[in-house]
Amino acid sequence: MADIIDGRAVGEEVIEKVKRLTAELTAAGGTNPGLATVLVGEDPASQVYVASKSRKAKECGFHSVQHTLPADTSEAALLELVERLNADRSINGILVQLPLPAHVDATKVIQAISPEKDVDGFHFINVGKLGTGALDTAFVPCTPAGCMLLIERVRGKDLSGLNAVVIGRSNIVGKPIANLLLAANCTVTVAHSRTKDLPALARSADILVAAVGRPEMVRGDWVKPGATVIDVGINRIPAPDKGEGKTRLVGDVAFAEAEKVAGAITPVPGGVGPMTIALLMANTLTAACFAAGRKRPAF
Ligand code: GUN
Repeated sequence: MADIIDGRAVGEEVIEKVKRLTAELTAAGGTNPGLATVLVGEDPASQVYVASKSRKAKECGFHSVQHTLPADTSEAALLELVERLNADRSINGILVQLPLPAHVDATKVIQAISPEKDVDGFHFINVGKLGTGALDTAFVPCTPAGCMLLIERVRGKDLSGLNAVVIGRSNIVGKPIANLLLAANCTVTVAHSRTKDLPALARSADILVAAVGRPEMVRGDWVKPGATVIDVGINRIPAPDKGEGKTRLVGDVAFAEAEKVAGAITPVPGGVGPMTIALLMANTLTAACFAAGRKRPAF
């Protein structure tokens, strides 16, 4: 049976380190890291995510500001807010929660964020730095960065010669994690909906990352014995066994099957999920360190 990778415990370790380094930075320079979150509209999932990001920022000792705007906020008003936050020296990180309403050009808004405050790692400057291996100054998207910390716990920092297969090619997860694995010397294949014989390809992976958003798509016989399996999926499915109308969360991997074959595997929930918010705090602290002329803290 596989080792279960405890994302809650690793995420909590990251948070404890952020708290300690924040206290040191604040004691040395007099200002604490500042995170501004921006929520447009009333999407219930986004409300929960943004509230928990703001709460965690306060818990870390950050200056935490949440801007909640109505769904009909114009693109111009949003761009004006981003400009104001760019110029605000008390703010080190800006997070505009996605998705934005359809009448707003999300790319335009995200690209308006100063790259030095882009703690989501979505600005083209940061995407380019990651793509060219300039990791010393890049902001890396939080979920992929969190996945790498979990992989390092199992395999160490140098992944030389290992075969990695990433299922999913999104800009938020699939592409950035492929670049991180490449930077760590893996041989990387990015699979997607047009990939031929995906089960056979997945079986070649020493590190298998599933980020497609399809419940339990990766079966046990897709997993190479001893592989490290990272499940980024968070899918809510009906659970009639729990009662009428009840649901449960599952990943993109059929966990019960895969854990019999894998060497180590992340559960859902409690795997990658808690790492995302922890890495957002780490990125915000990093932005504050850079603004204070300090070097990047290691996580
Ligand atoms: N919506 C879902 N995930 C994310 C994320 O990582 N960052 C932002 N800004 N919005 C999201």
